[in-house]
Amino acid sequence: MAERVRVDLPVKELPKEWYNVLADLPFPLDPPLDPKTQQPVDPEALLAIFPRSLVEQEVSDQRYIPIPEPVLEEYALFRPTPLIRATKLEEYLETPARIYYKYEGVSPTGSHKTNTSIAQAYFNAKEGVEELVTETGAGQWGSALSYAGKKFGVRVRVFMVRISYHQKPMRKYLMNFYDASVEPSPSKLTEAGKAFLVQNEEHPGSLGIAISEAIEYVVNSTKAKYSLGSVLNHVLMHQTVIGQEVEKQLKLINEEPTIMIGCHGGGSNFGGFILPFVPKKLEGKNIRFIAAEPTSCPSLTKGEYRYDFGDTAGLTPLLKMYTLGKDFVPPPIHAGGLRYHGSAPIIARLVHEGIIEAQSFEQEETFQAARLFAMLEGIIPAPESSHAIAAAVSEARKAKEEKREEVIVFNLSGHGLFDLSAYV
Ligand SMILES: Cc1ncc(COP(=O)(O)O)c(C=O)c1O
Repeated sequence: MAERVRVDLPVKELPKEWYNVLADLPFPLDPPLDPKTQQPVDPEALLAIFPRSLVEQEVSDQRYIPIPEPVLEEYALFRPTPLIRATKLEEYLETPARIYYKYEGVSPTGSHKTNTSIAQAYFNAKEGVEELVTETGAGQWGSALSYAGKKFGVRVRVFMVRISYHQKPMRKYLMNFYDASVEPSPSKLTEAGKAFLVQNEEHPGSLGIAISEAIEYVVNSTKAKYSLGSVLNHVLMHQTVIGQEVEKQLKLINEEPTIMIGCHGGGSNFGGFILPFVPKKLEGKNIRFIAAEPTSCPSLTKGEYRYDFGDTAGLTPLLKMYTLGKDFVPPPIHAGGLRYHGSAPIIARLVHEGIIEAQSFEQEETFQAARLFAMLEGIIPAPESSHAIAAAVSEARKAKEEKREEVIVFNLSGHGLFDLSAYV
């Protein structure tokens, strides 16, 4: 059997900057458009819902943005996260591929989401924001923001997709533990929510609807700002601490990745993981990036590449992305964080340019991969992350059939200890 390898970096190796891929892309991104005028949105207009520092990051083309000291201090509680070689999985699959995973489940709330929630709570607190309002699917993002809000003294209100609110009560308790208010969405707190409840009193909800509710709430408040856990440029940028660490970790063991995989909901863990490697690919390095998504919410594999609203009620600017249409309500699969109709504009453009591949997986296949991984490697993955595992298993099997040596690295975005009811 291959030797078990676990690469840990000391705290002093924590990345000190976030990486902004826009500085290195050979094309500009299509800008967000104002739905009324169809003209690029004036960044000043975004100040109605976001603090200035985050708006500046959203439109920045600076390659590196320094991470403020208080954010680094919070990161140091759980970062750098480990990179582990999945030797038992390799052995079981009898694959010539070497498989590594970056484990983001060691964060205080169990996923990569704290990488941006801490940053967002910090910048909002610094600008005097008293309340942060957001949406959450499975509850990972909501709990990450609740945790970060508590750290920096900002109240948090979460609109949680109704189906997940019922499927995952432990996540709600976790948010309440950090004193956040949690509403099942659609809710009666907003006009958008009420309109969906009229259609169906037990509406399962979707991320698109929950985003509409959070934005409507913020627009009608003077003290609150909105916080998004995925999709936007600044969110993906905060997540690049993941990929930057992976780069250092692989270097320490003299490995070069040939396949990098992450699950894709709105694109933040996948983006944070692969974007620091995009310049290498642009220089001609042999490296495949695979975004894994559910067949039941196949935005990258079946969606159209066009401008669409980021939410269901049509309150956001128009974003150029792969979309299933803002009205698409995905079936209630357990990977609640992957039930989003759209995608990050950065990831969408890279898919469109052929720099990133997308693959989709049935829920049952991801559950089988998750069980296999838990039995062999010991970690119970989040249902979202299980999509990355299913893709890694599939690529390792292909490598075996074709007798190819590969270095497969995937991002294990979170643990599934609060998702056990999905697996049993
Ligand atoms: C553990 C985990 N992985 C992945 C995702 C998908 O989001 P993103 O594509 O932004 O990483 C979520 C979203 O809630 C999640 O909780």
